[in-house]
Amino acid sequence: MTISTLRTVADLRAQVSQWRADGLTVGLVPTMGALHDGHLTLVKTALAKCDRVIATIFVNPKQFGPNEDLDSYPRTENEDREKLADVGGHVLFAPNVAEMYGTDGGVTKICVSGLGDILEGAFRPGFFDGVATVVTKLLLQALPDVAFFGEKDYQQLAVIKRFVADLNIPVTIEGVPTVRETDGLAMSSRNAYLDREERQIAPLLYRTISEVSERFKMGGDAEALSKWATQQLLEGGFQKVDYVALRKAHDLAEGAVKGEAMRVLVAAFLGKARLIDNVG
Ligand code: PAF
Repeated sequence: MTISTLRTVADLRAQVSQWRADGLTVGLVPTMGALHDGHLTLVKTALAKCDRVIATIFVNPKQFGPNEDLDSYPRTENEDREKLADVGGHVLFAPNVAEMYGTDGGVTKICVSGLGDILEGAFRPGFFDGVATVVTKLLLQALPDVAFFGEKDYQQLAVIKRFVADLNIPVTIEGVPTVRETDGLAMSSRNAYLDREERQIAPLLYRTISEVSERFKMGGDAEALSKWATQQLLEGGFQKVDYVALRKAHDLAEGAVKGEAMRVLVAAFLGKARLIDNVG
């Protein structure tokens, strides 16, 4: 199978208009590339629900902090294109930075107050502004029927749902369950930063938050469980734990309530990699 690669918003819009004229529905899968089975599951889910599927690859500079891995972030467009073609994606949209933000970089940003400032937002200031800005642009550029995002980035999904609702963007946002390696490690492009020894340690993240979830269901105290989990991770080989938090699933607000849908979210450093994960 081959897949066409579009580089400009004008070409993307022309393609989508053609599909619309043919009465076809359109799914969008935004990514930053370095595609793994988690991304490909998003594409397959989109293919099951929409007639045509666009995957985007854009390493978005606006969502990286000054000391983060923008320069070293894996860029593997040719391999990614083959993977997308193999699963049956229809179009790859891969603009460059000037096409996305114009020659002056753009001055408008989308900011989801509150939800975008906690957890990941507290440890990575500006991150969700960058995500919300680029996802808004991608949604308005493609105007798909449905856009698909992984639950692995649970807070990101919540932020996207919130600004799409607030801004009346006429696109359905669909979350897709996290895809895991056989030992439980959530698939992530940043797993590539783990060396052999760290890769053995990494599944402790999922095991620990799963146990927090179980213990909470059995009546455990949220704060005590968070402390216990942090200790487990540090003793198990993680160097730094940014947070282990039990939050309300729908808005990530504090205040653990038994019987209400909750989410356990974690972010921790293992070597060069900052890993995040979450469970219900
Ligand atoms: O999850 C990602 O890969 C990115 O944050 C996204 C949604 C593609 C925006 O750049």
